[in-house]
Amino acid sequence: MSKSAPRDEGTGYEMRKPAIKDDLVLVSRGTPMGELLRRYWHPVGLIKDANSVPRKVRVLGEDLILFRDGDGRAGLVHARCCHRGTTLYYGKVEQRGLRCCYHGWLFDVHGHCLEQPCEPNGGLFRNKVRQPWYPVQERYGLIFAYLGPPDRKPILPIYECLEVMGDGEFVEADDSSIGGGGPVIIPCNWLQHYENVVDPFHVPVLHASFSGAQFTLAMASMPNVTFESSPRGVVARSTRKTDDGKTFYRVTEAVLPTLRVVPNPRVAQFARVESIGWVLPIDDASFRIYVAGRVKEPGDLGRMRSKFNGKDWSQMTEDEHQRHPGDYEAQVGQGLITMHSEEHFAQSDRGLVILRWMFQEQLARVAQGRDPIGVSFDASTAPIVFEAGNYIRN
Ligand code: FES
Ligand SMILES: [Fe+2]
Repeated sequence: MSKSAPRDEGTGYEMRKPAIKDDLVLVSRGTPMGELLRRYWHPVGLIKDANSVPRKVRVLGEDLILFRDGDGRAGLVHARCCHRGTTLYYGKVEQRGLRCCYHGWLFDVHGHCLEQPCEPNGGLFRNKVRQPWYPVQERYGLIFAYLGPPDRKPILPIYECLEVMGDGEFVEADDSSIGGGGPVIIPCNWLQHYENVVDPFHVPVLHASFSGAQFTLAMASMPNVTFESSPRGVVARSTRKTDDGKTFYRVTEAVLPTLRVVPNPRVAQFARVESIGWVLPIDDASFRIYVAGRVKEPGDLGRMRSKFNGKDWSQMTEDEHQRHPGDYEAQVGQGLITMHSEEHFAQSDRGLVILRWMFQEQLARVAQGRDPIGVSFDASTAPIVFEAGNYIRN
């Protein structure tokens, strides 16, 4: 090789050691984001998931058991029995609570130990132990749990879009997968998915030119988008011209910390948003989605899933997934936790910049002992009204 030969630049060999933004993505107790997320209520199951069969639930890196006692009260307790640590998954639900399979300690929905059958006199010191538990509330077909500091427990918010019904509408909940299809549990970090909410530019690429128009033709064109922070999170306002010269105006919102307030991309109706999706971080490397929305027929939420040649995501071949990828492929394709040090943000990523900045601001507030955005401790707080929707303007 001659001395003057140009040096190869940009080869993989020159890459620096990758790094992730731990404070934004990790969700365990004691981490910055884990503590922020623990200031809010999160859906942990459908109402019917709490029943007489103990159900494993993993939330923010914690292994929990969901059940419903014989009096109809839903309970959420740590899976490890506070006696000697076996899992309450093998326990038995009774009238007053959940009984551990190993030595029969019985716990109520607040973790009180009611019986210790192996102990003299049923356990004289049973009041001294408590099975770790979390408060739950049931609303919109979902069970919400609060995993944070008890003295900072906010009210469970009420949402106008799930309270004010149109003709023949009712609220339904769904837990089956991300919108485009995929397994129930998505094997990557929750923020990868959540950032997708403020990324309307991927729609005409991923959901149109790659997948074949998964949504309506109106959604297949490149939008003009403005992003803004709101009192709740980040708002993206997209406009597109329609064939008849009108303006298709679409507003989506990321409502901190995990709400996707995204109107139906199939644009069945031009109206305010009809559903809310909650991104539930299971742990650092997996998440799932719960949705509640106004529907007219049972099962409508599930029917919104994209299909490819009439096939569900799970029925597609590997070849079809490769040639027609959707949200699952793009987001899981970023890796378990995307390497933030290797990103190159461009103009179209402005929504993500605002979102990350807003998260950083909330992390700082919590670290300073303040309350993060969107929490209320006043039970008379008015329902939250979103701007999100699909609208037509002349
Ligand atoms: S381990 Fe649960 S009662 Fe002993
Ligand atoms: Fe998408």
